[in-house]
Amino acid sequence: MQELTEGQKTFANDIIEGLSQTTKQLPSKYFYDSEGDRLFQEIMALDEYYLTKAEESIIYENKQDILESFIGTDSSFRLVELGAGDGKKTKILLEHFMDQEIDFTYSPIDISANVLTILKESISSALPKVDIQPIAGDYFKALKDLKKNHLQKEVVLFLGSTIGNFDNESGLKFLKKLGENMTKGDLLFIGFDLMKEPDVILAAYNDKRGVTAEFNYNLLKRINKELKADFDIENFIHYPTYDPISGETKSYLISKKKQQVSLNALDKAFTFEEWEPIFMEVSLKFSQSSIQVLAQEAGFKVVKNFRDSKGYFQDSLWVKL
Ligand code: AVJ
Repeated sequence: MQELTEGQKTFANDIIEGLSQTTKQLPSKYFYDSEGDRLFQEIMALDEYYLTKAEESIIYENKQDILESFIGTDSSFRLVELGAGDGKKTKILLEHFMDQEIDFTYSPIDISANVLTILKESISSALPKVDIQPIAGDYFKALKDLKKNHLQKEVVLFLGSTIGNFDNESGLKFLKKLGENMTKGDLLFIGFDLMKEPDVILAAYNDKRGVTAEFNYNLLKRINKELKADFDIENFIHYPTYDPISGETKSYLISKKKQQVSLNALDKAFTFEEWEPIFMEVSLKFSQSSIQVLAQEAGFKVVKNFRDSKGYFQDSLWVKL
């Protein structure tokens, strides 16, 4: 095996582990290489992908209400964001907070220092007076460090229904751990995509132009590049499903024929049966009761819910107990 960096080793191990399961799977967190980031931007602009537009409208329509809920009786706060992406939705809040002359600090946390540099530049040029203190690193490590020096109330933003990419069990674990690294009275403002008419959901993950399919195929292409593999995209179909009972929207890439794929950098090969699936991603859709239960089990209390006019998406404000 050739020399690999730590990051590449973890990637290689996760890919091999996933493809070795009885039901083959690939972790969706690896969708986001630079091409994946670009494709996700394209997805957010699609007519069918209602999530981003719905959450943006929630934030825009409720910015004053959100501000009042964030500040409460305090005179200042630290706004911490997990995975800000391009920061488009957050900018609506930052701009409004500046207009209202609110005393706050904005700390986006991301594992990628590069993402943070780009975000900081884009916010500084649009809103030069915002006090931005980005933190590069692991979410929990960053929150733990902030907790040690907790001088003002912390408001954590976790937008986009990213929590839906966890299955029920690991989502709860994630939120518990998040809470452990927050202080009693701190707030969490978290986005949930809601259960709705199944065709609306399916269309969002099966757009006509095939951008979402491309987004899934891109992980196979990434494996081809980084692990010298020979996935032939043509031999797989993209297939999303929605289960109205569990709320799970799952995406699969399904092998059209019996085939073998080699990961040459790792001297590994995997065989696929005809119509054998690779489970690629879950995007969980939530109900009012599932959100309520999640908050309670994770050690928070729901303070207020904000929904868009179609009732597609909900941002939920929780307080840490
Ligand atoms: C970024 C996790 C919110 O699950 O809707 C978009 C990712 N996957 N289209 C989602 C995604 C396919 C997205 N999240």
